[in-house]
Amino acid sequence: MFRDALSVLPRVHIAFAVKANPNLAVLKLRAAEGYGADVVSGGEMDRALAAGIRAEGIVFSGVGKSAAELVRALDAGIGQFNLESEEEGIELAALAAARGLTASAALRVNPDVDAGTHGKISTGKAENKFGVPYDLAAGMYARLSALPGLEMRGLAVHIGSQLARLEPLERAFARMGDLMRTIRAAGQAITHMDLGGGIGVPYKAGDVFPAPADYAAMVARVTADWDVTLMFEPGRVIAGNSGVLVTRVIRVKPGVTVPFVIVDAAMNDLARPALYDAWHDFIAVTPSGERMVANIVGPICESSDTFAMGRDIDAVKPGDLAVFRTAGAYGATMANTYNSRALVPEVMVDGDRWAIVADRIDPAAILAAERVPEWLV
Ligand code: LLP
Repeated sequence: MFRDALSVLPRVHIAFAVKANPNLAVLKLRAAEGYGADVVSGGEMDRALAAGIRAEGIVFSGVGKSAAELVRALDAGIGQFNLESEEEGIELAALAAARGLTASAALRVNPDVDAGTHGKISTGKAENKFGVPYDLAAGMYARLSALPGLEMRGLAVHIGSQLARLEPLERAFARMGDLMRTIRAAGQAITHMDLGGGIGVPYKAGDVFPAPADYAAMVARVTADWDVTLMFEPGRVIAGNSGVLVTRVIRVKPGVTVPFVIVDAAMNDLARPALYDAWHDFIAVTPSGERMVANIVGPICESSDTFAMGRDIDAVKPGDLAVFRTAGAYGATMANTYNSRALVPEVMVDGDRWAIVADRIDPAAILAAERVPEWLV
């Protein structure tokens, strides 16, 4: 378990990245387990608070926090703002000072390290929109530290998601350590260092990923003399393997080389294959023992609605149930209603107990929220 692995580190705060799985019941579980929350919108903040996660344990990340969101977060008393620009810090300081408050903040730095993951989920290269440029960070930190309304307490870094190797993380953390020492030498305080999330999980049976214990050992080595509270924002490594997407085979039709298995799940339910060419293992709920090679596709009218091409899978036939594995992170949370499809319901399973923890949202409910202007009637 990730949390247990990090217990080798002296002072730790783990903020679950709500974006990975924001279901209320899941967040309740996180609260009970003692996690804080990493949120990137007012909506995520409301969910974390509704689940009983303490405001002081919430980190507000995100490159485009609006003034209204900053105010709501200040009023809620959230624990740390991860600033993505000097401009954001100046705005937050003014909003806090006007309320007689002091906002605790960290400056997110872009370390210009290649995370070695899919380009669409890399965040720590100089050309990415996240954080402030490494070479400008110390100057910004000094200026922000001088502002009333703001208590600068640390630095934050997050170089990307689904990282398969620890080496880019280690390089980024080492650079952050150097920057921390520079800032301290200039006379500013640093008591917290937020090392982000990003640890990958195996999606394909047989893939080997760094274990949480290896990650913890690397962090312990790099941060041995930092003397700070270390903060983490993991999402996938906690939630990824806790969920599957259940689907039913609608039909099997012949293809030029291999058949198409058409399932009733689609890219609107699980967007990762369409967006990032991601692999999700597909297994029959009741395997017959036979195998087949097939393309697995959904019903949406786009070729990108393809889960797998030429995949060796359990043989399935119309009506069979199957699952896409490792859908607990960035699964239902990224669902949409494209092609006027329903939003998937979510079911929590605990041993032999289960409960529906999110209703299916039917297309009729979405249609009911739409209005026709009177000039068209
Ligand atoms: N902290 C920050 C600032 C982040 O941007 C993210 C993820 C996390 C923490 C959590 O990262 P994790 O530990 O889960 O890797 N939809 C994509 C993943 C996008 C991740 C965005 N940021 C996917 O399905 O692969």
